[in-house]
Amino acid sequence: MAIRNIIKVGDPILNKVCRPVEKFDKRLAQLLDDMAETMKESDGVGLAAPQVGILRRAVVIDIGEGPVALVNPVFLEQSGEQECVEGCLSLPGQYGITKRPKHVKVRAQNRSGEFFEIEGEDLLSTVCCHETDHLNGIIFTSHVIRMLDREELEQQK
Ligand code: NI
Repeated sequence: MAIRNIIKVGDPILNKVCRPVEKFDKRLAQLLDDMAETMKESDGVGLAAPQVGILRRAVVIDIGEGPVALVNPVFLEQSGEQECVEGCLSLPGQYGITKRPKHVKVRAQNRSGEFFEIEGEDLLSTVCCHETDHLNGIIFTSHVIRMLDREELEQQK
């Protein structure tokens, strides 16, 4: 595994729509392992392939239960509403308040191409929405209600 460089906001790669993953090969496995390692190193809860310069529909998430790779993720359900405090590894030190669904159900493929479903609320929902947005070239700041000010940022630490 290797740590990959995380692309920061301002790079046009982050605004592109990613193509589906078609080959479930060693190269994909390597990418997913590297993304998990890079996310862990940065204390992130999610990382999308375009953030490491790969325009394919793959993300890794970790909400405290270990890394899970979601390849070609699709929402089956989105319901309810919650206010979240969101940040992004591509925007270090910036946090904002967003509105996201409270509950999601996602279908994705694993590194071998097998389909599975993941369902959950709160942070899982926020992370799935945030990371899937990256695959469509969307950064959380584009639908943020407001960014946190310096005092509020202190409380995030
Ligand atoms: Ni992000």
